[in-house]
Amino acid sequence: MQYKAIKLVKRPALKITPDVFETVTLETPELEEGQILLKQTHMSLDPAMRGWMSADRDSYIPPVELGDVMRSSGVATVVESKNDHFAEGDRVAGLIGWTEYAVSDGTRLNKLPPDLSPEAVLCVLALPGLTAYQGLMKIGKPKAGETLVVSGAAGSVGSMVGQLGKAEGLRVVGTAGSDEKCQWLTDELGFDAAINYKSDDLAKGIADATPDGVDLYFENTGGPVQHIVFQRMNAHGRIVVCGMIADYNTDKPSPGPNWLNIVRKRLTITGFTMPDHWDDVPDMMQKLAVYLAQGKLKYRAHKLQGLESAIEGINLLFTGGNLGKLMVEL
Ligand SMILES: NC(=O)c1ccc[n+]([C@@H]2O[C@H](COP(=O)([O-])OP(=O)(O)OC[C@H]3O[C@@H](n4cnc5c(N)ncnc54)[C@H](OP(=O)(O)O)[C@@H]3O)[C@@H](O)[C@H]2O)c1
Repeated sequence: MQYKAIKLVKRPALKITPDVFETVTLETPELEEGQILLKQTHMSLDPAMRGWMSADRDSYIPPVELGDVMRSSGVATVVESKNDHFAEGDRVAGLIGWTEYAVSDGTRLNKLPPDLSPEAVLCVLALPGLTAYQGLMKIGKPKAGETLVVSGAAGSVGSMVGQLGKAEGLRVVGTAGSDEKCQWLTDELGFDAAINYKSDDLAKGIADATPDGVDLYFENTGGPVQHIVFQRMNAHGRIVVCGMIADYNTDKPSPGPNWLNIVRKRLTITGFTMPDHWDDVPDMMQKLAVYLAQGKLKYRAHKLQGLESAIEGINLLFTGGNLGKLMVEL
């Protein structure tokens, strides 16, 4: 049987352009003992992919090699199995890649309960929810009554961070790139305030929304929000640095804030990436499943259709065109 896959064949100069990819048609191979054949149904698109496409070997994960199928996580159904741990019809999540079918030996695949939708998996129990839980709960160590600001708040990670913050009894303020996104945060997700970072008086907006200062800042974007929030940090505040999407498509990263405030306010600033915490994933998934079952984690999926929609579609992450977790339905 033939299927399509997309390989990375060139490194992007700055923006991701279609010529860095090549769509190929492949044959499904005969399975060896221990292997399974996966048909991917939902493929996640993530900002981190921009880094994986670059030649940087000094980061937390090696780059995708030129000529390899582009790396991504996704949800798949087992359509053939020569592995005792997997049966035909099982649904799994894991690193599958930009491909309609994939052969696996089952390593690092998580079996999914049949009643869980692929959207719930990719929006909550996979990278977005895990990242939010690790960063906010384990690193940020929130306390009820504190003020949390999260940038990129209407995105996959940010929306989970804010809702976990509300579930833990914090005052939650988000920043996002449109009035529609801000309204979703306050009206649907229960944020206490949301500020459009493209509005004229961002500093006043953030100050008005954080009358008691900021105890915890969850950084997803960098950009102007970072500098303003940094000046509003309370003594012993924590800054959790999850991502800096404003700087992913530029060769001139923006200068960071001066370190003086770190001493004056005795701040703790911690960067983290999820691959360091894979051993904790089963435990974190269980905890997220409880919040989900309690209706405390709402989500919205932004679905593109067909494998090749990823080629242009991935740029929605960098224009803010995605309304919710960006994924491809295959
Ligand atoms: N550390 C980790 O292990 C880890 C894991 C997952 C994700 N992340 C990071 O978390 C961040 C969010 O990722 P996500 O998957 O949840 O993506 P997402 O927020 O669902 O989508 C990206 C969003 O970023 C915003 N954005 C794009 N360019 C921007 C800019 N110049 N300034 C400010 N905002 C901008 C856009 O929203 P607006 O319309 O609001 O601008 C866009 O919708 C990224 O930085 C990502 O790299 C880190």
